[in-house]
Amino acid sequence: MQQLSPTVAITNTGDPKDDPAAFRRCLGQFGTGVTVITAAHCGELVGMTANSFSSVSLDPPLVLWSAKRTSQSFPTFKAATHFAVNVLSSEQIALSNHFGRSGGDKFKDVSWKHGIGGAPLLDGTLCSFECRKAAEYPGGDHLILLGEVERFVRHDHSPLLFAQGRYCTATDFVDPTDRPKATGQLQARGPMNEFMTALMYRAHGVLSAALDEGRQAEGLSVLQSRLMAAIETLPGSRLDSLLPELFLGLNAAENTVDELVQMGLVQVGPGGGLNLTERGRDRNHALHERARAIEARELSGISPREIANCRNVLNKLVERAATA
Ligand SMILES: Cc1cc2nc3c(=O)[nH]c(=O)nc-3n(C[C@H](O)[C@H](O)[C@H](O)COP(=O)(O)O)c2cc1C
Repeated sequence: MQQLSPTVAITNTGDPKDDPAAFRRCLGQFGTGVTVITAAHCGELVGMTANSFSSVSLDPPLVLWSAKRTSQSFPTFKAATHFAVNVLSSEQIALSNHFGRSGGDKFKDVSWKHGIGGAPLLDGTLCSFECRKAAEYPGGDHLILLGEVERFVRHDHSPLLFAQGRYCTATDFVDPTDRPKATGQLQARGPMNEFMTALMYRAHGVLSAALDEGRQAEGLSVLQSRLMAAIETLPGSRLDSLLPELFLGLNAAENTVDELVQMGLVQVGPGGGLNLTERGRDRNHALHERARAIEARELSGISPREIANCRNVLNKLVERAATA
C-alpha cells in the first residue's frame, strides 16, 4: 500500500501554558497569506499587518480576522463601523514590515485611497475586501472581528505568503517522483526550457527532495540542517553575522536556534556566539555522510567531467554576484 503520510520524528511537543514560545512557533508552521487591515474612525487612520484573516461564508459574504487587544490601533478598530482587508502581493514585504510595527503615522509614505467607511485601500495589493463590521467575538487576548464584504477588488499579482516565521512566495509543487512526465516536458523546446533559471529550479527540486530523505532520517528540518552547517563552517559566530549565509529572516533563524538548543545540538555562548555541541557535530557529520551518498546516487550516470563543468558554471555565477 502506498504510504500517504510518512512518519517523522517529533521536533517539539508540550502544553501551550508551559511553553508559550514553542506553542507560537508551532502555530507559525501553518502557512497563510499576509494582509494589512485598515480602518478609520473620527479622522484617525489605522492599519496593522495581520495573517489571522480567513474566509468564513459565501452567502452572506463573511470574512474574519483577530486583533490583539494591546495593539495601539485596537481602540480604533473596535470603534470603526468598517474595515478593509488589503491582501499583500509578493512585492509588498516592506509594506508588511511597515504595518507590522507600532507607532508613527503609518500612512505618511504609503500610497492609498479611501474605501468604504473611510478605511484606507493600499495601492499594489493582490486584492482587497471592504467590510462592514458584522459582529465581534471574544478571543482571549485577541478580539475576533467578523466582516460582511461590501466590495472586493482583485489585481493581477502573485501572493505574499508567510509560513514558519518567514515570508515566501507561491510556486507550483513539482513532484520529483513524477520523473517520466517531467523528463518528457523538459525535452520540449520553447520559452519554458530556454532559461537557465528554470532548469536550475527544477534540478534543485529534484536534488532537494532527494536530500530530504537524509534529513528525515536524522530527524532534522531543512532550516535546522542549514543552520547547523553554517555554525559548523563559522563556529562561534553570532546569529546576526550568519544571516546572510542562511537566506532566512531573523525571526525564523531565532526560532531554529531555539529548536536546536532544545534538541541539545547547539549551544549559545555568553556573548551570543553559536557552537555545535558534541552531539550536534555527530548529527551533522551523519547528515553529511547521508547527503554525500544521496547526491552521488542522484548524479550517477553523469560523467565526472560533466559534473565538474556544471560546478564551474555555477561557481562562476555565484562568484560574479559576490564581487559585483
Ligand atoms: C506576518 C504578521 C502577521 C501578523 N498578524 C497579526 C494578527 O493577525 N493580529 C494582530 O493583532 N497582530 C498581528 N501581527 C502583529 C501586528 O501587525 C503588530 O503588533 C503591529 O505592531 C500592530 O500595530 P499597532 O500597534 O500600530 O496597532 C502580525 C504581524 C506580522 C508581521
